[in-house]
Amino acid sequence: MTELDVPGRVTAKIFPYPLNAWYAAAWDHEVTAKAPVARTVAGRPLALYRTQDGRPVALDDACWHRLAPLSQGKLVGRDGIQCPYHGLQYNAAGRCTSMPAQPTVNPSALVTSHPVVERYRYVWVWPGDPLLADADTIPDMHQMDSPEWAGDGLTIEAPCNYQLILDNLMDLTHEEFVHGSSIGQAELSESEFTTRHEDDGSVTVTRWMRDVEPPPFWLKNMRDKFPGFSGRVDRWQIIHYYAPSTICIDVGVAEAGTGAPEGDRSRGVNGYVMNTITPETDTTSHYFWAFMRNYRLESQLITTQLREGVHGVFAEDEAMLVAQQRAIDANPDKVFYSLTIDAGGMWVRRILDRMLAAEGRSLPVPSSTPSQVTS
Ligand code: FES
Ligand SMILES: [Fe+2]
Repeated sequence: MTELDVPGRVTAKIFPYPLNAWYAAAWDHEVTAKAPVARTVAGRPLALYRTQDGRPVALDDACWHRLAPLSQGKLVGRDGIQCPYHGLQYNAAGRCTSMPAQPTVNPSALVTSHPVVERYRYVWVWPGDPLLADADTIPDMHQMDSPEWAGDGLTIEAPCNYQLILDNLMDLTHEEFVHGSSIGQAELSESEFTTRHEDDGSVTVTRWMRDVEPPPFWLKNMRDKFPGFSGRVDRWQIIHYYAPSTICIDVGVAEAGTGAPEGDRSRGVNGYVMNTITPETDTTSHYFWAFMRNYRLESQLITTQLREGVHGVFAEDEAMLVAQQRAIDANPDKVFYSLTIDAGGMWVRRILDRMLAAEGRSLPVPSSTPSQVTS
């Protein structure tokens, strides 16, 4: 066993989340002008709704008066919401505009209205300091609504710390063991990978598997584009992490030896697995995912088949994450150890650690000895 120079000696099991960040709070279609929806983002219970002209709004889900949840109220007027308890009304800025039982409105009556941006089919919320909210820092998920890509996705309500999901996506060698019947193969562990990190808080992990048998999921996709295809493929997985918790994975296979590793993917199929994970609490997460593809864009059948296929694959991840979180909770004195395969995930932790430090917060230190990095 040798120690590697992988960043981060202390591997926290329950990772805090930055507050000064954009998080996907909901799919666009979940937020309507008909009724508010309750959603907790980064520990903040929110009431989400749209104004009559379609603008999404995120208010703290606790009335100024007696903290009743506004999400159980109803939408009123052009941009307002009414508390279900004593009828106070608030506008989209969170200012109280009506107190039914008295003639004047107390000027200090307001609830926090958080910065909101609708982009890439999601409604993004900034739970931290509103003065720092810059929409340009929303991670690039352009495949979600580009005319050159088609696909769909779902949400997993995952009962685990968000960092466990980031770990899961930053190292895909688990596919051999967790997804053996669809996308797993031994070459995942056997092939080399590279890890690159940038000052902007992005990390890229690249793995090529050359001249391998396509696993069932990829053989089906190849046959959707090239009917009757058989033979070996070059397979790629290029994992793009954007701070704090978005991971877009460029995945695909191409007929072996036709130049895909050098840039010619014309004899292959290409997908993007879009993942953005929103911490709900320390031990629960909203995990939004979609599978986008850039071939056979017209086929709703393929869109649905891929969504259902990936849904089945991710259910296997969810079962493992649930079991892992349960074991973590049952073993408070035990620590995490890290392997070579964790290099990408360890960079993610370092970047998150930096974001937390900028907010004046720091990582909890494991109760026992720090983790070792071994191979
Ligand atoms: S708690 Fe909302 S009006 Fe009283
Ligand atoms: Fe997985």
